[in-house]
Amino acid sequence: SRLVVLISGSGSNLQALLDACADPAYGAEVVAVGADRDGIAGLDRAATAGVPAFVHKVADHADRVAWDQALTQSVRAYEPDLVISAGFLKLVGKAFLTEFGGRYINTHNALLPSFPGIHGPRDALAYGVKVSGATLFVVDDGVDTGQIIAQVAVPVLDDDTEETLTERIKEAERAQLVEYVGRMARNGWTISGRKVTVG
Ligand code: GRF
Repeated sequence: SRLVVLISGSGSNLQALLDACADPAYGAEVVAVGADRDGIAGLDRAATAGVPAFVHKVADHADRVAWDQALTQSVRAYEPDLVISAGFLKLVGKAFLTEFGGRYINTHNALLPSFPGIHGPRDALAYGVKVSGATLFVVDDGVDTGQIIAQVAVPVLDDDTEETLTERIKEAERAQLVEYVGRMARNGWTISGRKVTVG
C-alpha cells in the first residue's frame, strides 16, 4: 500500500512508519511526506529516508480553500491508498475530504472523545484523569470527531508533568499507529456508521 504522511513537527510517528516500512513484510511504503511549514525535523527525516516531500503553507495561498486544493493536488499526485496525519496541525477542507475521506486517518494524543484539540496531554492532566492514551481515527469534518479505529490506554502518574505524560503517550501512540497502519495496508478496512473494522 502507498502511504502519504502529513506532518507539522518532529515526525517521530513518521519515523516509526518509515522504520516499519523498511521490512517488506510490513506491506506498505511511505511514498511522500507533506507538511504545512518548513524547518521541522520531520522533513529532515523524510530527506534522510529518501522520501519526496512537499510543503504547503496556508500563508502562501490566497485563502484556506486554495490551500486545501493545493494540498489535495499534491497528495493526489502520489496516488495514496492511505493518508496519515501524524502530528499535522491543520484541519483539511472540503476538497481534501471529498477526495480522501474514508482513507485519511489521524492519531490523537488522548482517549477521544475526551480532550480533543492540540493540547491532549495538558488537558488530561488539568482535568485530573488517571488514564489517558492515544486514539487512531478516520478524519471527518469535525475536530477529532471521526470514527475510532483503535485506542490504547496509558496511565497518568501522580508526578507527571505535561512533558512526561506526552512522552509516555507518544510511545504507545507510535506502536499503535504502526500496528494498525500495517493491518490496514495489508488487509484493508471497512467503515459502517461509527464502526471501523480492520481486516
Ligand atoms: C502526536 O503525539 C500527535 O498525537 C500530536 O502531535 C504528536 C506528533 O508528534 N498531535 P510527532 O511529530 O510525530 O513526533
